[in-house]
Amino acid sequence: MSREPPIDTSKAHPARVYDYLLGGKDNFPADREAAEQVLAAVPTARHMARANRAFLQRAVRFLAGKAGIRQFLDIGTGLPAQGNVHEVAQQVTSDARVLYVDNDPIVHVHANALLACDNSAAILADLREPDAILSHPEVRQVIDFDQPVALLLVAILHFIRDEEDPAGIIARFRDAMTPGSYLAISHATGDFDLIAASSAARAYDKAAAPMVLRNHAEVERLFDGFSLVDPGLVQVSHWRPDRGQAAGHQEVWAYGGVGRKITHPTPQPAPRAAWVVPGGPAPPPQAATAPGGDRARDSAHALSGARIARRPARPGHGPQSPGAGPSRVPTP
Ligand SMILES: C[S@@+](CC[C@H](N)C(=O)[O-])C[C@H]1O[C@@H](n2cnc3c(N)ncnc32)[C@H](O)[C@@H]1O
Repeated sequence: MSREPPIDTSKAHPARVYDYLLGGKDNFPADREAAEQVLAAVPTARHMARANRAFLQRAVRFLAGKAGIRQFLDIGTGLPAQGNVHEVAQQVTSDARVLYVDNDPIVHVHANALLACDNSAAILADLREPDAILSHPEVRQVIDFDQPVALLLVAILHFIRDEEDPAGIIARFRDAMTPGSYLAISHATGDFDLIAASSAARAYDKAAAPMVLRNHAEVERLFDGFSLVDPGLVQVSHWRPDRGQAAGHQEVWAYGGVGRKITHPTPQPAPRAAWVVPGGPAPPPQAATAPGGDRARDSAHALSGARIARRPARPGHGPQSPGAGPSRVPTP
């Protein structure tokens, strides 16, 4: 008999903090307190949460449409909200299959009740244990890894610390995915206002998972082995926006991108190429890769006490590693 972990509502949980920011009702006092702390530091946080959700939906529409993907592995599902992945994908192609994964038992209960349906299932599992997910019988029932699959890691990787090896976790999934599969990521950043973003991130210090801000280069490296489709890694609001929906480049402090798995070793990406987007955002005013960026980041870190990712030192994933990071080739 499988034993579900107890539901702890005394600690804020990312899923319920996000639910509160999106205007949902599945949250508890600790979640609301953390969300209010986020809002005090970043009053536009609700707008940013909605922009992230809209990115997820546009990415799924692209994947189910132009990219021809029929199966989705959505890790870090969140509480059911408007436009869940299977609904968006099945509007495009009725045979789309979705496997939802989350480590919050409350999300799991809701996901089982509302998201699991024909062609979809939900499991309670942790991204930090990729092998347990890949070998899970329900995953194997819904997802055929011999066929292209889209791995959705939307607004989850900033809850994975460097020492938990986010790049290694993604590599484990990538190696199980057939070429032509896709990876979609969105990730919080301090690139646009490090002090305010760090202060918002501190709201998660006492939560079930701390928030780790990463800069553009650090998020881009997570696409190692994938080639980013246009427009590359940009603020989520600038990723293939629906007509009339792009936000100003300062407004949304999260990067989003979609990459296609490639078969050959990845060449070194052109520095900061993702910013060269016709009509897209300008580079951040103080990108952490700029001269003095790390120092500026460190001093803000000292001020705020928030967790900010260091460049990973692991061989194969550090800045000196020419193989790490995505390539950019024309894609759908
Ligand atoms: C901010 S929500 C994002 C929800 C949805 N992906 C979206 O973007 O609208 C983050 C989700 O990731 C889940 N999560 C955080 N850490 C996780 C982990 N290590 N394993 C699985 N799920 C995790 C949380 O429970 C939460 O549901």
